[in-house]
Amino acid sequence: MTYLITGGCGFIGTNFAEQLLKRGEKVILTDNLSRRGTPSNLTYLQEKYPLVEFVHADLRNDLETLQQLVEKVDVVYHLAGQVAVTTSVVKPREDFEINILGTFNILEAIRESEKRPMIIYSSTNKVYGGMEDIIVEETENRYQYKDLPLGIPENRLLDFHSPYGCSKGAADQYIRDYSRIYNIKSVVMRQSCIYGERQFGIEDQGWVAWFTIASVLGKSITIYGNGKQVRDVLHVEDLFNAWDIATKNIDTVSGTIYNVGGGPEHTMSLLELIDYIENLIGHKLTYTFSDWRPGDQPVYVSDITKAETELNWKPKITPRQGVEQLYYWVTENKHLFDFLK
Ligand SMILES: NC(=O)c1ccc[n+]([C@@H]2O[C@H](COP(=O)([O-])OP(=O)(O)OC[C@H]3O[C@@H](n4cnc5c(N)ncnc54)[C@H](O)[C@@H]3O)[C@@H](O)[C@H]2O)c1
Repeated sequence: MTYLITGGCGFIGTNFAEQLLKRGEKVILTDNLSRRGTPSNLTYLQEKYPLVEFVHADLRNDLETLQQLVEKVDVVYHLAGQVAVTTSVVKPREDFEINILGTFNILEAIRESEKRPMIIYSSTNKVYGGMEDIIVEETENRYQYKDLPLGIPENRLLDFHSPYGCSKGAADQYIRDYSRIYNIKSVVMRQSCIYGERQFGIEDQGWVAWFTIASVLGKSITIYGNGKQVRDVLHVEDLFNAWDIATKNIDTVSGTIYNVGGGPEHTMSLLELIDYIENLIGHKLTYTFSDWRPGDQPVYVSDITKAETELNWKPKITPRQGVEQLYYWVTENKHLFDFLK
């Protein structure tokens, strides 16, 4: 099979590319290299896997290139995107153009192609909005749902919140609908917090990576809110397995939407992450508290029963193991973060 990965030099894209290249698949990466850290991800892949192909393109306007690319592949992993809620609030048009128009351009390229490759899309739990009606309890160390032990399922009402929520949510529905209307094979993955190696987390996006990087480099950490916020977290290797299973079973799962996250068994609060890192680093971290960020949910946990049942998939890497892996990667690759000096 030949795979096209849009956003192929980003965090998830690089990890997916590596998994595929390791087992000998043909991979074409496309990216506009706008995200910090992407050139070093590309160099890393090209040095380790000389057969990988890279095509510089911007999803918003390089339509001819996109058309040529989809004609060459069997599978499109669509990961390119504007990824931060905060940026989407400051630059809503840019967010709209990258996430909605960019996705539409890829879908149109597929629809008009001879090859009509399948497409898998990286959506987000942000499509469920603030979920203000759900009762949340505060315990000594963390928040938790009172009545939803399994978390939020896919049939939860859609309630796009923030320009990012709107643009990802619109793309999520476009992908699903192109399956229905144009018979394009697709799967939508509503991802929660994904973390792992080669993630250039910043304060605005990628908190697990950011806390780890900041701790190793001795940068100050700010906790917005009281730190008891809880997320289900999924290591990028576990995420890849879900995508891979869906790809291999596309004839049965096409048109489906799955929540893919750590689920109730793999959750972590901000304070718990600090605690894991302190154990690894061997001393207490210094951090400060600041006001809650607008729209920050006290808790989000995905109900992953549907993916577990239909894809026969389960996350395997515990948050403690995953944070340890990430911590050692950052420690060994401090030079990649020189831009933070
Ligand atoms: N990381 C997470 O926790 C998470 C959670 C839910 C959903 N997602 C989604 O998964 C996808 C990948 O996320 P990531 O964490 O790897 O982010 P990332 O920022 O590392 O990767 C996104 C990539 O898209 C590229 N890109 C941006 N605009 C582009 C454009 N106009 N044309 C071509 N390329 C462009 C960037 O250069 C970058 O390489 C995103 O769509 C994101 O919304 C991520």
